[in-house]
Amino acid sequence: MYKFVIQGGTKLSGKVEVSGAKNASLALMPAALLAPGKFKIDNTPDLADVLTMSKLMETLGAKISLSGRLQTIDTKGVSNFEAPYELVKKMRASIYVLGPLLARYGYAKVSMPGGCAWGPRPVNLHLEGMEKLGAEVTLDSGYIVARSKKLTGAKINFDVSSVGATGNVMMAAVLAKGTTVIGNAALEPEIVALGDFLVKMGARIDGLGTSTLTIEGVDELVPCDFRNIPDRIEAGTFLVAGAMAGGTIEVLNCEPKHMSSLISRLEEAGAVLSVSKESVTIQAPDAIRPVDVSTSPYPGFPTDMQAQWIALMARSSGSAVITETIYYDRFKHVPELVRLGANVEVKENVAIVKGVEALKGAKVMSTDLRASASLILAGLVAEGTTEVLRVYHMDRGYEHIEKKLRGLGAEIERVQSDEF
Ligand code: UD1
Repeated sequence: MYKFVIQGGTKLSGKVEVSGAKNASLALMPAALLAPGKFKIDNTPDLADVLTMSKLMETLGAKISLSGRLQTIDTKGVSNFEAPYELVKKMRASIYVLGPLLARYGYAKVSMPGGCAWGPRPVNLHLEGMEKLGAEVTLDSGYIVARSKKLTGAKINFDVSSVGATGNVMMAAVLAKGTTVIGNAALEPEIVALGDFLVKMGARIDGLGTSTLTIEGVDELVPCDFRNIPDRIEAGTFLVAGAMAGGTIEVLNCEPKHMSSLISRLEEAGAVLSVSKESVTIQAPDAIRPVDVSTSPYPGFPTDMQAQWIALMARSSGSAVITETIYYDRFKHVPELVRLGANVEVKENVAIVKGVEALKGAKVMSTDLRASASLILAGLVAEGTTEVLRVYHMDRGYEHIEKKLRGLGAEIERVQSDEF
């Protein structure tokens, strides 16, 4: 076990490079199950979640390696179609193997993902989508079992915009017989990246980046090489760090157009941003102005930036209202931020944050990935020492975070710890 020990109060400045997108990698890797052979995916982040997906795909018979940022996936040997509980319980995105296995092999058995740290996260839309494509889906001893001779195109209209269900159904539909139309499809850049990858494999998909996807099934797909997109949530976290603890920092290798909602909120908060093609420079404001946000599907303000925004608003000069519309209970970071001196009150899915003059270092516990990020941000500006326990959450989605923050001048160390 490790913890982060942070000495707060150092001004951050300099340049930081963003890694490849975790949530895109977790979709691209299972998509490789749709064709036998060797894929090369560049800009793959070295993260615990990517390792979990690698282990899962190796269990299925694929061979996976990561050399620097270049991931090689060989799917020739795939011969097992079962995603076991031990891996799915570690990472819900394991459900992404359902669509590709079903489409290519006519059978998939995937452990049913349970709830997550901040509450229920159903997969009903994934399962209904597979059924509409003609699969027989049953639940057996904690496992989803899906079977189909050949999937058939269908009209599928999601009543909720879901990243995962859009990705899973898209992966199943590319090998189905005939046309599939997905309505209320997710617009997230990670879904567009997945679609681009599938198209490069030979899939026929129209409407990527819009809410209607039209997919003409093809008989077979072929392996390809692909470059993953940058991680907009990692980039966004560094921008918030810049707003809270800058100085001036330059976030490199990012895709600013994927962050327009965050960038405009940061400007409203008083930060000065300069955007170029693949980088964003942020200069911290003298005083952070309070800015309300409400999370929503892309291109709205991402739920994956909500915890970090609360950390920023905890140091604002007024009162901000943060409304969570995607995951109503996603506020596990709040009691820990309060331990650092933040003034935050949660009522149902709304957090009211009253900015304070100073946060004070304390021992805090991370409960999930983005909660950890918010605690680190708060620790960077808190007076004295902050210890953030359960670093493994952070390692799921931020590559070498302490090294990157140290590169900006932060005083942060990863220290072995038996505290849990
Ligand atoms: C993905 C991201 C996660 C992000 C989330 C929302 C990955 C690996 N993870 O998660 O980081 O926080 O998008 O942007 O890409 N829903 C249903 N039924 C379903 C599926 C979802 O009701 O079958 C609901 C969820 O409870 C939630 C909403 O749809 O309220 C959006 O969830 P979804 O987009 O599916 O999230 P994930 O794909 O799991």
